[in-house]
Amino acid sequence: MKRQKIIAGNWKMYKTAKEAVHFIQQLQKLIPSSKARILLAVPFTALTAAAEAAHTTSFAIGAQNVHEAVEGPYTGEISAHMLKEAGAKFTLIGHSERRRLFHESNLLIHQKIKRALSSGLTPILCVGETLVERSDGATEAVLAEQLEEGLGELSLDQLAHLVIAYEPVWAIGTGKSASPQVADEAHLLCRNFIAKKWGSAAAEQLPILYGGSVKAENAAELLNQPNVDGALVGGASLDPAAFAQIIQSVG
Ligand code: PGA
Repeated sequence: MKRQKIIAGNWKMYKTAKEAVHFIQQLQKLIPSSKARILLAVPFTALTAAAEAAHTTSFAIGAQNVHEAVEGPYTGEISAHMLKEAGAKFTLIGHSERRRLFHESNLLIHQKIKRALSSGLTPILCVGETLVERSDGATEAVLAEQLEEGLGELSLDQLAHLVIAYEPVWAIGTGKSASPQVADEAHLLCRNFIAKKWGSAAAEQLPILYGGSVKAENAAELLNQPNVDGALVGGASLDPAAFAQIIQSVG
């Protein structure tokens, strides 16, 4: 079975609710229909307006983070239930900016994944090595550790609702994307890890997105790799025309 391509935008801390609505209207004009599934991970404050604006489109709106608890005294945090009610269908979890700047551990990320799944939000687990780890030859070990601890003992059924994004830290926001071969190799490492633990059928159906300086110029080649099932796009997802070009490169 061929996996459907997914093109996801990660807006990070950009765009107000009004700007989000404008973007969605523009994107819909540019992409009235697509072979790819289109996802937008928007700031919390834009979720409701974006979900409403996307209602008549095929775009799915989601969040960039979630708290692991059901609810509680966690000033400034947001629960999976709140995200769902605001219209989120998915959430990014463990983005490298959250790991690095907000000290998220694999264990915490695992708890967030379980919370998202039990609330009916699709988790997009982000994994990836730093430049030092890659030059030390530790890429495989780092990915295995992030997957082992991040996924823990999820059931096959839970795994069927998961998406992985391979985002090498050295490629994020640097303009220097991984080559298609390097990306495909890393995706294969992730897929083999899943196959070993959950079986090849689970590994075959799991979407693995590539993220890190994806733009119109390199998207088609990356997306053509056998193990690359889509893209998680930061900078180039902020402009409707640039994002539309990436979506159109899905063959
Ligand atoms: P970038 O970001 O496309 O700007 O490199 C990707 C990401 O952080 O998800």
